[in-house]
Amino acid sequence: MTRGRFITLEGGEGVGKSTQLRSLAAAIEACGIDVVATREPGGSVGAEAIRGLLMEGSDDRWDARSEALLFAAARADHVVRTIRPALERGSWVLCDRFVDSSRAYQGGGGGITDQDILALHGFGSRGLLPDRTFLLTLDAERATERLSVRDASGADRMGSKPADYQARLAARFAEMAASEPDRWRVIDASGAPQEVTAAIIANLKPWL
Ligand SMILES: Nc1ncnc2c1ncn2[C@@H]1O[C@H](COP(=O)(O)OP(=O)(O)O)[C@@H](O)[C@H]1O
Ligand SMILES: [Mg+2]
Repeated sequence: MTRGRFITLEGGEGVGKSTQLRSLAAAIEACGIDVVATREPGGSVGAEAIRGLLMEGSDDRWDARSEALLFAAARADHVVRTIRPALERGSWVLCDRFVDSSRAYQGGGGGITDQDILALHGFGSRGLLPDRTFLLTLDAERATERLSVRDASGADRMGSKPADYQARLAARFAEMAASEPDRWRVIDASGAPQEVTAAIIANLKPWL
C-alpha cells in the first residue's frame, strides 16, 4: 500500500480554490484513486468547532497570537484525525488552504514571524507539508468581481480586507512559492474553470 498524495490549493479569496477543489476531486477519482476533499480551518469534528470560533464574531474577537494558536490547533486536529489516516490508507487528500495560508495571513503581522507559524506547525502537526501546493493567481479586481457575485450576503471575519492588504498577501504567496519551487506550482486562475482544472491536472499527470 503506497501512501496517498497530499495536495493543497492556496491563494487569496475569490481566486477559485473551492471551485477547483471540487472539479479536481472528480478528475482524480475518475482515474480510480480514492480522494478526500477537505478544507481549512476545519476538516475534522474538532477543527470544525474551532472554525466557528475563528470565522464568526467581530474583527477584534481574537488577538493575533490567540488566533494563530487557534488555527494551529484546528490544523493539528485535522491532520491527526483526517489527513494522516487518509494518506496512510492510500487516499489522496486535496485541501482548500493549509499551513501556507497561516504563513500568509497570520505570519508577518502582529509581530508574528514565519518562523513562529512554522514552529506552531512543527509542534501541532509534526510539520506535515503537502507533496504539491498550487498557488492560484488572479488580479485583485477579477477576484473582487468573482466575490461580489458569490458573497451577495456579505463576508465572514476572514473576508473583505483593503486592497493594499490583498497586494501584500499576493506578494507573500509568490515569495513562498519561489522559495520552495519543488513543492509549489503557480497556476494562472484567470481562465474558465475547466481550463484551470486542466492546467492543474496536467501538472499532476506524472502521479496519476
Ligand atoms: N475560473 C473561473 N471563472 C469565473 N468564475 C469563477 C471561476 N472559478 C470560480 N469562479 C466563481 O468565483 C467565485 C469564487 O470562487 P471560489 O471557488 O469560491 O473561490 P475561493 O474558494 O478561492 O475563494 C464563485 O462564485 C465561483 O463560482
Ligand atoms: Mg473557498
